[in-house]
Amino acid sequence: MLKTLWKKMMKNETILIIGAAGNNGAATIKSLINKQLPGTKIRAAVRNKEQALMLSTKFPCIETVKIDLDKAETLTAAFKDADKVFMIPGNVEQRELHTKNAVDAAVAAGSVKQFVFFSVVGAEYEAILFAKQFRAGEKYLEKSGLNWTHLRTIFFQDNFFGWADGIKQGALYFGVREGRFAPLNIADIGEIAANILATAGHDNKAYNVTGPELLSGQDMATVFANVTGKEVAYVSPTPEQTLESLLSTGWPQWQAEGMLELFEVFATDQAAIVSPDGEMLLGRPLTTLNSFITANKGAFV
Ligand SMILES: NC(=O)c1ccc[n+]([C@@H]2O[C@H](COP(=O)([O-])OP(=O)(O)OC[C@H]3O[C@@H](n4cnc5c(N)ncnc54)[C@H](OP(=O)(O)O)[C@@H]3O)[C@@H](O)[C@H]2O)c1
Repeated sequence: MLKTLWKKMMKNETILIIGAAGNNGAATIKSLINKQLPGTKIRAAVRNKEQALMLSTKFPCIETVKIDLDKAETLTAAFKDADKVFMIPGNVEQRELHTKNAVDAAVAAGSVKQFVFFSVVGAEYEAILFAKQFRAGEKYLEKSGLNWTHLRTIFFQDNFFGWADGIKQGALYFGVREGRFAPLNIADIGEIAANILATAGHDNKAYNVTGPELLSGQDMATVFANVTGKEVAYVSPTPEQTLESLLSTGWPQWQAEGMLELFEVFATDQAAIVSPDGEMLLGRPLTTLNSFITANKGAFV
């Protein structure tokens, strides 16, 4: 009797994560598992065997499935009987095509009740390349007839791991001049995504999720200096220097130019907002840059 009742209470849902092996995908899976949702299956869509093995070693309770978002025909098995989808487009020029293929597969599956789309703050203005790419995906999803949720995010605190060498040598090179924005923690994003996927009331909504505090490049350098106890000077290279530096470290031209556009948005305070959505969805304060650096101090000293 109790067993039958429990079974009835169990949702038996399948949540499909696209981009599962990436930073935000793994953070979301971790948070979903922490929630211990009875009867919920997590299906992680990845590109290759190595990623499947990496995820199933880390999270033994999940299913993995192989997809290639460039090839629509590879998506059918992944979407079969999926109830909810969280799509995190990759760092690729064809983000729009990938989203279109995923949305089409979700519609074709016929089982998807909620499609959560990872996007960017300011997408709706379509002012820069990255915003245009994500907004194109948002629009396609909105017209699909699926219940959609846009999870719009901003520059990750975790990006600073890529600046660690400069910081260790005493400088934060970040070409955003005196502009301010609110960097966001990836673990927070994962928890927010998991909360959206695990609760009702998010249909056809766009959330702007920023970090908890507006900081300039100088403010960020000061936080690094305070936490590491070492001098960290703030240097804002010119756009030309930033472009040269990105290209010399292997960034593709389209992406390096996109980054310059984004830095200009930051430099001119066009993204200088602290949105209440993140804290509301998280149910606790968002992680500050100081807490993030403190927790990862070893990487910066
Ligand atoms: N860095 C920031 O501050 C920031 C802020 C806002 C938004 N974003 C954007 O937000 C998105 C998520 O960020 P993230 O750090 O979680 O990205 P990520 O770690 O690169 O994860 C994206 C995942 O998508 C997968 N992918 C790429 N092409 C694919 C394909 N053809 N088929 C199947 N999977 C494919 C990647 O696989 P592989 O590992 O095999 O490539 C990767 O696992 C990215 O588009 C990022 O550019 C970044």
